[in-house]
Amino acid sequence: MYHFYDQYCLEQAGKSRLRILPPVDSSVSLDFSSNDYLGLATHPDVVNAAIEAARQYGAGSTGSRLLSGNYKLIEAFERQIARDKHTEAALVFSSGYQANMTVLASLLSRRVLPAPPLVFFDRLNHSSLYNAMFLSGVEYVLFDHNDMDDLRRQLQKYRVSSRPAFIVTETVHGMEGDLLPLAQLVDIAAGYNCFLYLDEAHATGLYGPQGYGLSTTVDLSPVPHMVMGTFSKAIGGAGAYVACNAVMQQFMLNRTAGFIYSTAPSPMSVAAAAQAWRMIPALAGQRQQVFAMADLLRRMLRANCITVMGDGTNIVPVCLGDESDTLALKKALLEDGMMVSAIRPPTVPTGTSRLRIAINALHDRASVNQLAEGIVRHLAAPMAEG
Ligand SMILES: Cc1ncc(COP(=O)(O)O)c(C=O)c1O
Repeated sequence: MYHFYDQYCLEQAGKSRLRILPPVDSSVSLDFSSNDYLGLATHPDVVNAAIEAARQYGAGSTGSRLLSGNYKLIEAFERQIARDKHTEAALVFSSGYQANMTVLASLLSRRVLPAPPLVFFDRLNHSSLYNAMFLSGVEYVLFDHNDMDDLRRQLQKYRVSSRPAFIVTETVHGMEGDLLPLAQLVDIAAGYNCFLYLDEAHATGLYGPQGYGLSTTVDLSPVPHMVMGTFSKAIGGAGAYVACNAVMQQFMLNRTAGFIYSTAPSPMSVAAAAQAWRMIPALAGQRQQVFAMADLLRRMLRANCITVMGDGTNIVPVCLGDESDTLALKKALLEDGMMVSAIRPPTVPTGTSRLRIAINALHDRASVNQLAEGIVRHLAAPMAEG
């Protein structure tokens, strides 16, 4: 039966969509592919917090939170997250993928709701959110990415008061590099009586007065809501949180399978994330620098008539459209010592293959110049198939 799986990969290769692991010993001098936006993954205080936690608690958590795996450190961190996200409670998960898939699926459960729910879902949402739709078998309506007029149209057309309704979206889009008009979305959700589920994977650490996400800039109290975010991007670690009220925290403890039946995150990763989290408010200068450099890169590329997507974020997607052109440009930049990500379908829609450039706190004017110059030069010259 291996043949079927081999055939699938061969087909992907034929479409320039085969995924391979990048080399681990490459001579990259400038890395624009990392999600460690604030450089916290290697910060000595963060690394030391992980080491200390391993000494105090051990390397593993030994069980589910509901059995042997609960510990002081994780509870204290959840209280801090709740405070900083202005919610009553929070729960920590081992990964963002696990949190989205399993929390959202449990919210949509037919065992819990009085009628089949209907989900209004941004069509470019992350795979983990899509998989929650598939896992729960729920009916969902797609709206155009960040398009509040289209969302209103879909709500007018499909919202019926007899069915519980949810709106699911990301506040900062990880592949489009743009921002959700959150205040407008809250008004719409309130007007149509919808539950709001927000993914702040790429917003956590970078937005809001203290850096704790876009959700902290808006009053979400007019609507029932849950806000998920990860420690895997600007927090520089691994794992995720869901911030919510006490009712929803208790519900997750009792219904969210990925929480109940999974070993609690390791004390090392929780301690590292908690340390990085505490450092976030003091990193306003780094946030400013990251946004200024991303803005500079966008302007330089656009001045050269290159199609750059998004605005107001440190994620700068350069859209080439075609898979093989995207791979070729990535390869050419790698040969110059610069690492960027090539993003192809099915991660993004067909015809929108792109380089995903993530600006982080280590990038300065010189690094941005070097990258912009490389992209412009390679796009001006015909590139070899890559
Ligand atoms: C929008 C979004 N949500 C969720 C995730 C999953 O997070 P994690 O990498 O912590 O599993 C990601 C990461 O790729 C993401 O971009």
